[in-house]
Amino acid sequence: MRVSVVIAVSRERRDGETRVAATPASVKILKGLGARVLVETGAGLSSSIPDADYEAAGAEIAADTARALGPADILLKVRGPAAQEISALKPGTVVIGLLDAWREKDTLKSLASAGLSAIAMEFVPRITRAQAMDALSSQANLAGYRAVIEAAHLYGRGFPMMMTAAGTVAAAKVFVMGAGVAGLQAIATARRLGAVVTATDVRPAAKEQVESLGAKFIAVEDEEFRAAETAAGYARPMSAEYQARQAELTASHITKQDVVITTALIPGRPAPRLVSAAHIGTMKPGAVLIDLAVESGGNVEGSRPDQVVTTPGGVMIAGFSNLPGRIAADASALYARNLAALAGLLVRDGAVQLDREDEIIGASLITHGGQIVHEGLK
Ligand code: NAI
Repeated sequence: MRVSVVIAVSRERRDGETRVAATPASVKILKGLGARVLVETGAGLSSSIPDADYEAAGAEIAADTARALGPADILLKVRGPAAQEISALKPGTVVIGLLDAWREKDTLKSLASAGLSAIAMEFVPRITRAQAMDALSSQANLAGYRAVIEAAHLYGRGFPMMMTAAGTVAAAKVFVMGAGVAGLQAIATARRLGAVVTATDVRPAAKEQVESLGAKFIAVEDEEFRAAETAAGYARPMSAEYQARQAELTASHITKQDVVITTALIPGRPAPRLVSAAHIGTMKPGAVLIDLAVESGGNVEGSRPDQVVTTPGGVMIAGFSNLPGRIAADASALYARNLAALAGLLVRDGAVQLDREDEIIGASLITHGGQIVHEGLK
């Protein structure tokens, strides 16, 4: 097979980013597309992948960023590239990653002005054909799992009920707010650990999913709730009246909970505030809140990115900004598969072909030809 497409993978530059955009398994898929794969030395170390494993899968190890990125036709990233990476790429290179395009406007502008074609994985539409490319789901699923592990670690008591000769340990009460991909995995994980789990969401479809996992569903189920799911399957921002009734329901429930995990997001908007300081003030000492929405403004009042804040009442509020990065080897493995599936759409007959008529590429291409091309970001 004639090899003319070069796919590069560089080390992640962001603080605390432990994931990597390729694994030995994904390198094999990329090689199967007829590409040459260049991996910057050390790129996989924080996901427990040594250079030698990439080499064994057929990749070439590049000694530095310039050597990895200079020849690249496609650059695979976890997060948006750093300035030094952008300047190492030739115009026209396709950069694919979780570019966080709503918030990272500076990176977006640099990608455009460097003439790069950037594809934001978070904009891949959730259509059946794109399921293998759904990085939001692959990462949210692991984040939901990891949130429960972090909560169990912070919580000074057990999760399962244990009956012993020295007395009974009560089961932990876990409340999951937002039952999308992350929330459902959090419910499943907390159940496996033996907790008594309740959950809430504003989308009616979530009710059956929550109940099928053995948790109890709690929500304000009025007319607005019945219309809260958009055609795309996401939540709408709720009215002030609805939010007030939701807060009332939360108030009476949350006071009895040991662990609260919040995952509520609305695409392109700040996260809805679900738990107030007043709510937290009624919780027991030792109770734990994990706010998965902390980077989007937070569902929990007082949550701070990458901090565990303990209130005067002894309640811990933890905001992990990168939970998938705390299960990096698995998160990288799933994400790298998502990227390899997307790269499969781009490489045709030994060349990169960016078909903007393709529904997946059309929706996720954010910069091209020196411009920001995504309607929602212009
Ligand atoms: P997300 O990350 O945007 O939001 C998380 C959850 O927060 C959602 O369930 C949302 O309804 C909920 N939420 C928003 N505002 C809330 C509020 N005020 N109170 C309580 N909960 C609130 O959503 P995610 O996890 O990305 O998935 C959303 C939906 O899309 C789910 O039904 C999921 O199953 C579906 N989906 C469909 C896919 C497909 O068809 N291929 C793939 C992935 C997800």
